[in-house]
Amino acid sequence: MRGVKVSLFGFGNVGKAVARVLLEKERFFRERYGIALKVVSVADTSGVVWLPEGIDLQEALLVKETFGKLSAWTNDYEVYNFTPEEAVEEIDADIVIDVTNDGGAWEWHLAALKADKAVVTSNKPPLAFHYAELVGEAERRNVPYLFEATVMAGTPVIGILRENLLGDTVERIEAVLNATTTFILSRMEEGRTFDEVLREAQSLGIAERDPSGDILGVDAGYKATILHCVAFGPITFRESRVKGIGGISQEKVREARSRGRTIRLVATLERGKITIEPREIPVDSPLAVESHENAAVIWTDLLGELVVKGAGAGLKETASGVVSDVIKAALRIA
Ligand SMILES: NC(=O)c1ccc[n+]([C@@H]2O[C@H](COP(=O)([O-])OP(=O)(O)OC[C@H]3O[C@@H](n4cnc5c(N)ncnc54)[C@H](OP(=O)(O)O)[C@@H]3O)[C@@H](O)[C@H]2O)c1
Repeated sequence: MRGVKVSLFGFGNVGKAVARVLLEKERFFRERYGIALKVVSVADTSGVVWLPEGIDLQEALLVKETFGKLSAWTNDYEVYNFTPEEAVEEIDADIVIDVTNDGGAWEWHLAALKADKAVVTSNKPPLAFHYAELVGEAERRNVPYLFEATVMAGTPVIGILRENLLGDTVERIEAVLNATTTFILSRMEEGRTFDEVLREAQSLGIAERDPSGDILGVDAGYKATILHCVAFGPITFRESRVKGIGGISQEKVREARSRGRTIRLVATLERGKITIEPREIPVDSPLAVESHENAAVIWTDLLGELVVKGAGAGLKETASGVVSDVIKAALRIA
């Protein structure tokens, strides 16, 4: 049995979902892969709880759910006021998991890689702005830098592009990558106004309280940038052309529907070019997804057309991508 030490940064929706999977499937990972994962630290913005012998994740979840912050946990555990950079440096871990929403996290991803620690993340901005630097450092050091959950949650579109199709040249990708805009547009087809549906999405927890990242197309833009980096080579979000769904009226949506078409926020990627915009597509197109589904249509010189379709959001679904990367990293380390 090979022990692998894990440092978990971020204990919000995704962080807690990842902790639950690590707890529930501990035996499965031992039996199937011969790997014993030990979480040696857990961090939120209130502090870093660190115990080299391993943290009781059940208790960590209880503390976070009861008090809202890990720093409320004082029994048996030390809470440190480390910055993430300090924590990455101080804590002896093989894998650093970043499931925070820290926009500046690329700096501590780089610090972790420079200390030869694997990094697994669901956090998009580090990749959308610093892909070349981060992946370059990881490759130079032969350290895993894995980010499946940044795009399409656990649906393995990154894995397909990064680990398969290695002899193919990708020619073009079209994708629907943001579930909130899909929810809003499909509800508008039922005759509801943009504002009504947005309020509903917020009350259901589908859209965030500040939904601008989804509505303006920034979230889809980050994801498309990451896909471009993997499929065609490094680029940054700043080079993408992004138009959100803010200007779409109910009339436009219903009129498209009457012609057998539907409007979705579509990302179109070719080498050196990323466009995100609302587009009319036929209702029988693989891109005409519903609910929290995402889809990507990939065209390559050898395989032709490949459709990847599956969950694009959700906590269990995102944890699937993160944990799969953790196992991949652990197997490489082992
Ligand atoms: N939710 C999804 O379905 C989904 C899907 C794919 C990707 N993602 C991405 O996954 C990440 C997490 O999403 P989420 O829904 O779990 O967000 P969330 O519920 O807001 O949780 C974010 C967590 O990160 C912590 N945090 C922020 N900055 C930190 C720092 N510098 N050091 C330590 N902890 C820090 C927060 O601490 P506090 O608890 O103290 O605030 C919180 O626990 C985001 O980057 C998101 O874009 C989410």
